[in-house]
Order: sequence, then structure tokens, then C-alpha cells
Amino acid sequence: MRVITHHSAARLWLLCTPGTSYAFRLDADDVPRHVHWGRPLSLEQAVAVAADLPAEDPGGDDPGGEEYAVEGGLRFGAPSLTVRFADGVRGFAWRFVSHSVEGGRLTLSFTDRVRCLSLDLNYRIRDGHDQIERWAVLTAGEQVDVLRLDSAAWTLPARDDYRVSHVVGEWGREFQLRRDHVPVGESVFTSRLGITGQHAGPWLMLDAQDAAEEHGEVWSAALAWSGSRRITVRRDPYGRASWTGGFGHEGLVWKLAAGEQLETPVFTGLYAPDGFGGTSRRWHAFVEGEVLPARPAERPLIFNSWEATEFDISEKQQRELAGLAAGLGVEVFVVDDAWFGARTGDAAGLGDWWPNPDRFPQGLGPLADQVRALGMGFGLWVEPEAVNPDSDLFRGHPDWVLSQDGRTRTQRRNQHVLNFARRDVREWAVEWLVRTVTELDVAFLKWDMNRPFSEAGQPGATDPDRVWIEHTRGVYEVMDRLRAARPGLYLESCAGGGGRADLGVLSRADQIWTSDNTDAADRVAIQHGHGQLLPARTMGAWVTDSPNSHTARATSIRYRFHVSMAGALGIGGDLRNWSEEDLAWARMLVGQYKRIRPVVHGGVQYRLDHDAVQYVTRDEAVVFQFQPSALTRTTARTRLKGLDPDARYQDEDTGAVHEGAVLLSHGLPPLLPFDRTSELVHLRRLPR
Ligand code: DGJ
Repeated sequence: MRVITHHSAARLWLLCTPGTSYAFRLDADDVPRHVHWGRPLSLEQAVAVAADLPAEDPGGDDPGGEEYAVEGGLRFGAPSLTVRFADGVRGFAWRFVSHSVEGGRLTLSFTDRVRCLSLDLNYRIRDGHDQIERWAVLTAGEQVDVLRLDSAAWTLPARDDYRVSHVVGEWGREFQLRRDHVPVGESVFTSRLGITGQHAGPWLMLDAQDAAEEHGEVWSAALAWSGSRRITVRRDPYGRASWTGGFGHEGLVWKLAAGEQLETPVFTGLYAPDGFGGTSRRWHAFVEGEVLPARPAERPLIFNSWEATEFDISEKQQRELAGLAAGLGVEVFVVDDAWFGARTGDAAGLGDWWPNPDRFPQGLGPLADQVRALGMGFGLWVEPEAVNPDSDLFRGHPDWVLSQDGRTRTQRRNQHVLNFARRDVREWAVEWLVRTVTELDVAFLKWDMNRPFSEAGQPGATDPDRVWIEHTRGVYEVMDRLRAARPGLYLESCAGGGGRADLGVLSRADQIWTSDNTDAADRVAIQHGHGQLLPARTMGAWVTDSPNSHTARATSIRYRFHVSMAGALGIGGDLRNWSEEDLAWARMLVGQYKRIRPVVHGGVQYRLDHDAVQYVTRDEAVVFQFQPSALTRTTARTRLKGLDPDARYQDEDTGAVHEGAVLLSHGLPPLLPFDRTSELVHLRRLPR
């Protein structure tokens, strides 16, 4: 149930989702002020809360608690909106114009009291979800510089203390979950990369230092944007916390001419009363139901050639790998980098998107046909936003890359960034992408992006900093047009591993390449961080060789599979070197994966004690237990969650029957024998 109500005398709006309420009001000066974000309230209760809010700020010099802070007057916090008019005047003086409700969407329209500038604050709630989506639209009636235009500001109720949960990392160490104390002051969570980045996720969760996995209040928000961003968390000395966030990092200026509009990405907020587990499950349901492209939950089981071959690929070797992959039950065979142009290493060929004539003399058609004859779909790697200087594309269009006059064009991985803010670049990308996936009947495309922006300019442009917005929008446009042309295509978002994982790209990509670190033990921590916000079906997870090429750690085939089977399983090892025994294990585990996949990709996820994770549907449950280290191994039983206490469940592999109530209160036995580093238990509810 979702309801938006308005109390005209109190000038208050109340948004009610199935489990939460959100309220704000206009004060006597038309300034929107936050009232409530938390447990469900009636309209009368929300009005009473608003009436009790102090009219004056306790500190006396900063109103605080604003729904969307602007500059002007005695405001000294981080503004959500900063503008500067041509005559140097700054700030926004609120005048309320109107409000409208359309379905689950509420729009409040404001204008500046004297200047020609309008601002719409938008809210949207969706059936069956507790998320509140917010975004802003700025319309200029006169020329104005926009120094900050956040999507939304989010205010928490006063608490004694606050903690922020977020993910940090780098290449090979993405999605490392941290829970840090929020200091009094301002803490900035940002990307200046032009892409989402591996160093930090575009989301955060705040609690009052009292939430745990299954209890306690958690307030969270995720920005649907794949470019630079800034989220500023503010904690004041009076016990209040809030954050404001949106696209762009500090120092950028966007110019609006009279009549021009700038719309922010959506910043989605969520209140959950049931801990980090409840928060994650609500995000998973929202991402699955409202963000991801509509398609069946189950993701295809892919083979990807990268870790097996890197740049050293040939048609013969790919055919051999395809034969072995098909023998294991793989569903899509993906040729990674180095199939095109003069790309035999990372120094040349990027941008020349035709099959390398030395490696594929007849093109990719014969390989794609063989892959299909083996019963698999054909997949390809691309990196459309990047170009090697040593390429025909760059030689023909040196002006297509991000650059600034007189500045060195810095290279990273021997490549530049193509400026997708340019229409001609987007048209070029759409043309070759649609042609390639159509001609080869490509079923799965891995879209990579291996470098951040540098010298991010567009010589001659009147509004050069716009590239930070328009590049990302350009990428979205190309992805959208590609999907429209090939609706069946699966898209995987990758940026040197998990560097582009956000709700913006996930409304056009089906999954994320989570990390180039495929070491199973490291992956448990990486997957734990990924799953805080994103569901298992979006989490690409390959089984690769042992010892691992990244960490040199040797692990059993069974353990590697179990870790990857908790996400969207793929295989990325050099199957030519796998022993007969490992290939037999792989065939068996792939068969088991296909039986549990509807539960992992379509069920509800619970994180259990002892590094265990569980997926539950009405009739089935799948539990993964990971205990690779003797130092952390426990003899305690792992209690299950989300089961029917009155039902009985049968273990699909051993036939053992367990009572739901017993599994919920006493759990499964610990891992035995001790040489097992992981266990997978598949339970099915028995009919009454
Ligand atoms: C970075 C990706 O993360 C890898 O999986 C692989 O696709 C390489 N790029 C190819 O250059």
C-alpha cells in the first residue's frame, strides 16, 4: 500500500509505504522542513510531530532540518543547491508555487522570490516497497551558474550517536564493508573519477550504533548514478544527522541559459526497523522489482575466457575452451578482451571493433556458430568508452577523447576516455555495437571501462564541466538504444572489476562483474559487501584456477564452486589444465547449481552467523557455509532464518528430515568432517 496525503492547514505532506512514513512541511517562509522518516505515522500524528519541532535552531544560527538546504540567510551547513547568477548574486529564496500528486509521485514546485529560477522537488513511492525516490529539477529563467544541484537531502531523527556503513576498496578488493563512527562535522563520500569507482560505493547506511543484523533502525540511501558524485554526511553538535548528495564532485560549475533545465539522478532512501539484514532484503527486493531490466530472475551460467588466456587468444584455443565449457553445462561462452583490431596486449587496438584478422581470419562468425552448435549462447567483451592512441579510431578522431588545450593527455592502461557527451561518438558506438551483436547474434555483452577521467574537458565547449554529467548520460543512452535494438541481450557492467555497480547502470545492465579477484576466500568478504545493497543475481562470480592467479592461494574445487554458486555463477579458469577429477566435480556442481539457482536468484537472502548465507523461497532453502580457516572455524551450529517453524524440510542430498522450528532455533550441524571448508545444504519443504 502506498499513500500520499496532504494536510493543507499544517502545510504538511505525508508519504506512507507498507512499513514506513515520511513527512515534511512548509514553514511560514515557504521553506520545506523535514518532519519524520521512520515508523508508520498517521496524518494527525505527523502534524503533531511537526507542531512539536522547535521553531528555532538550538544553536541559534543555523535552521537545520531542511528538506533541501539552499544558500542564504543564517545557513552554514552543506547546501543541496548552490547557484550564482550573472551579477554575482547567490542563493535561492523559497516561494512555494504548487504541488501535484500523480500515482506514487509527488512534486512540489518552487520559484525564487525575485530571480527567474524554479526548483521542483520530486518524491516517488512504489507499491510494495519502502523506498522513497527523490530527485530535483532546476529550471532557469535567466542565465545561472549551478555549483551544486543535489538530488535530495535526508534527515534522521535525533539520536545520541551515529554510525555509517559503506563499502570501500580498490581493484581486486572491491566492496569491503566498513562501519565507521560518524564524527561531529561533515564527512564527504565522493567519486571524482567520472565513473562510480572501486574505492567507494554510491550508497550509505546510518544507524544509531545500535543496529545489528536482524534488529535496530537503519536509514540508507543509494544514488542511481554511474559518474562522479558527492554525498556529504553532516552531524551537528545537537545530536542531529543528515546527508545531502547528488551527481558531480566539488568545484564543478554547470551553466544554465534562460529556458534550460537540469534534472538530477534519483537518490533513493530507505528506512528499515529490522537491522542490516532487513535493510539489505528491502534493497534486494527493490532492485529486483523496480531497477533491473524486467526479465526472468535466473542469470545464465557463463564461461569467460579472460583469466584463462588474457590477451593471448586464438580461434583454435577459444574453440577448445568452448568445447570443454559446453561439457560442463555452461550456457553462454564469452570471449573477453583481445578479439579485435590490433589488440594483442593493452597498448594497441582499443577502439577498432572488428575481429583481429590474424586471430580470426574468417571473423568471429565461425566461432560463434560453433559455440551455438555446442548448445551455448555467444558472448563478447567490449570497452566502448576507451581508446588506445595506437588505434585507427584515435588516428582518425583524435578530437573524440576527453582533453584540455595545452594539457598532457594523461594515459592510464595506455588509453584515453572517449567523450560520450558528443553525439557523433554516441552514434559511432551505437552503430558498431548494434551491428556487432546483431551480426554475431550476441547473447551476452560485458561492458568494461578501465580508467577514470583525466583532463576532462571538451575544447571549444561553452559549458566544459557538463561533460561530467553528459558522458554518463551518453553511456546510458547508448546502453538503452542497444537494449532496445536487442531486447534479449544480457548486459554485464564492469569497470576493471566492480567499479561500476550502482542503481543507475543496473536499470540497463543485468549484472555486475564483481571483482577480478576470484580467490574464493577473498570473495566471501567481497560478496558480503556487494550483497549489502545488491541481490545475488547481479553478482557475477567465476570459478577460476587453483592456485589463484591473484593471491597464489590454493583452494579445493568444491569450495571455489560453493562461493561462486552463492551469486551468478560463471567459470573463468583454463579448463585445458583442469584434471579429470576437477572436471567431474565441476559437472556435478554445475548440475547442483542449476537445481538451486531459482532459489539463489529468485529467493530472499539471509546472512547467517559464521560466514554463512541462506536463500529462501516458499518451498526451498539453500544454505552456504564457508569456513576456510581453522582459526575461525567454529563448532557452533548455524541457525537458519526465514523458514516456516511448523514445516518439515528434507535435505535434497542426504534425505535427512529437519523440523523448521529446530532449524530456526538450533540450526544445522557445524561443518564436518573438518577437511571440508564449505558446505551447501539444499532443503525442500515437505508436504503436510
Ligand atoms: C578488466 C576486467 O575486470 C577483466 O575481467 C577483463 O575483462 C579485463 N578488463 C580485460 O582487459
